[in-house]
Amino acid sequence: MPDSIHILIVDDDPVIRDLLAEGLSGSGYRCETACNGAESLRKLRASSFELVVSDIDMPEMDGVQLLQEIKKTHPDTEIIMLTGVVDVDTAIQSMRLGAYDYLTKPFNLAEVRITVERALEKRRLIRENREYQRTLEARVAERTAELIRKNREVEELFDRLKSSYQTTLETLATALDTRDTETLGHSLRVASYTVAVARRMGVVEPELTDIYRGALLHDVGKIGIPDAILRKPDKLTPEEWVEMRKHPEIGYRILQGIHFLEMAREIVLSHQETYDGSGYPRGLKGKDIPLGARVFSVVDTLDAMTSDRPYRKALPYEAARSEILRFSGTQFDPDVVKVFLEIPDEEWAEIHRRVMRDVLARDQMRF
Ligand SMILES: [Fe+2]
Repeated sequence: MPDSIHILIVDDDPVIRDLLAEGLSGSGYRCETACNGAESLRKLRASSFELVVSDIDMPEMDGVQLLQEIKKTHPDTEIIMLTGVVDVDTAIQSMRLGAYDYLTKPFNLAEVRITVERALEKRRLIRENREYQRTLEARVAERTAELIRKNREVEELFDRLKSSYQTTLETLATALDTRDTETLGHSLRVASYTVAVARRMGVVEPELTDIYRGALLHDVGKIGIPDAILRKPDKLTPEEWVEMRKHPEIGYRILQGIHFLEMAREIVLSHQETYDGSGYPRGLKGKDIPLGARVFSVVDTLDAMTSDRPYRKALPYEAARSEILRFSGTQFDPDVVKVFLEIPDEEWAEIHRRVMRDVLARDQMRF
């Protein structure tokens, strides 16, 4: 498409100017001419040129100065220099300064046309490459932004899903509490107490959530224990105890196949184990008992003692502390007891208040 190509021919010799203009116009280029540097710069400001063919030896501003000026203000314009035989050194210097090539006078038009075509081809390739780079960067930036957006959406969905799982589990645990001990909020409290101790022991997410869920669902297996045993006001017979002691395994079976409760399930199975190995169902000992279960058994005692029961009022935290300390190393893991004792009463009371606020709010929503 030479007709869309604009060429500026600069020479103080009108014969050469016209010869070139005519020759290149004949090849279909749109040509303009200028007789010196100042005029060419004026024309370059007025319209855009793909190519300048400039003489080197001109009065006032010579071709080299013009070249430098054009490269500064129109870096996309290619330049071919015209030189007499004696000026070859200067022509080479011009190429170092950014000229595409030089033509030695006298030249023939065929040679000029070939050099012009090559200069324009080089320019086209450079621009194409630059455009490709630019669109490539834009495409990469666009795709990256899209991926970040999608990622955020997935994270939000995951958070919503997690929180709805949590609510479901908490509702289930609250329902279980009502059937069993009639102590409203027991499971939610021990779950939060367990997390408070575990966190202090250096447990981080996602294990912290697993531990929370395990503590929350610890007695889920009591679903399988008949009311006659579970709610029996008198002492259980040895046979009834055998039934009752099945609840960790029943719970473990109930949660089988629920992928996100895999770790929690281990705590459910082990929550009745004791540090010295006298617990059930497996008689696990010491650190063989999952940490979540070891922490749970300490805070379960705390909650049992510091909650109102039908037959007695809540005991002070101090009483729970000394009871737990008394059984450190036998029923309880001494490392857990040590961390447990570091937590001030106020922190337990605060968790208690917060959980009960949530439980009551949930209760109101239901009715
Ligand atoms: Fe239990």
